Amino acid sequence: MSAKIISGTEVAEQIRAELKVEVAELKEKHGIVPGLVTILVGSNPASISYVTGKIKTAHELGFYSIQDDQSVDITQDDLLKLIDKYNHDPKIHGILVQLPLPKHIDEKKVLNAIDPDKDVDGFHPVNVGRLMIGGSEAKFLPCTPAGIQELIVRSGVKTSGAEVVVVGRSNIVGKPIANIMLQKGQGADSTVTIVHTRTKDMAAHCKRADILIVAAGVPDLVKPEWIKPGACVIDVGVNRVGEKISEKTGKKIAILKGDVDFEAAKEIAGYITPVPGGVGPMTITMLMKNTVKSAKLSIK
Ligand code: GUN
Repeated sequence: MSAKIISGTEVAEQIRAELKVEVAELKEKHGIVPGLVTILVGSNPASISYVTGKIKTAHELGFYSIQDDQSVDITQDDLLKLIDKYNHDPKIHGILVQLPLPKHIDEKKVLNAIDPDKDVDGFHPVNVGRLMIGGSEAKFLPCTPAGIQELIVRSGVKTSGAEVVVVGRSNIVGKPIANIMLQKGQGADSTVTIVHTRTKDMAAHCKRADILIVAAGVPDLVKPEWIKPGACVIDVGVNRVGEKISEKTGKKIAILKGDVDFEAAKEIAGYITPVPGGVGPMTITMLMKNTVKSAKLSIK
């Protein structure tokens, strides 16, 4: 039997529709417009594309938004001053510094300079700690892991007591999604294992997973025989494996492949996310959700 395909595009649309209602309410009842600033240093084409998508979505949702693009030569001091300016700007509820940063800038220092109460990326150590403690303490969950949890929950997959296996231990996806699924409460309560490059028998762990979350950045790493029949498979990988001409635009576009052999895996899994159109569209949407949450929390 073929798996149910979890469409991140559709779930993201649903959440954006919910957010539009919340944004309208915030304006009407409290006179607050969620404000988001993106800071992009340099002109990395992938980063430009991500930031453009974020600002476009913010605009569509009726946010106040600023796209603050800076030259690749900006000094670390000037970047820290810029962040401080937005930390003190009451119209701004969310600050996002697009990563990666140029080599002369210390990424940790920059992330630590963002006010944790405006850190809608959820990368500040205070927010990482808040997530670890969990419950009402958690404030801003990092966007990709938060999106993964939404996909699982909105697909009706049972998480309580489920064996969740996470492939990859990055700070952006692997570690936080493991933490999220481990928490007490709805959409979590799972038994979690993280596997990584030094794990002795990755396949054996994956085979036990009721929910398998793969964020390794290795195309087709997970083989169909690693998947438990009926499992929910979330593929976070976005690997550029070549180029093709788009039928829609006639322009060159990247051929993307996930970390899971999708065609074979969908015949075994119960649920599976495609690449593209799975986890990808959720990341920007959860950034918007965090910004709305920050705006709500600013109500005195
Ligand atoms: N670069 C790639 N993904 C992200 C993200 O989610 N947030 C930021 N700030 N930079 C990124």
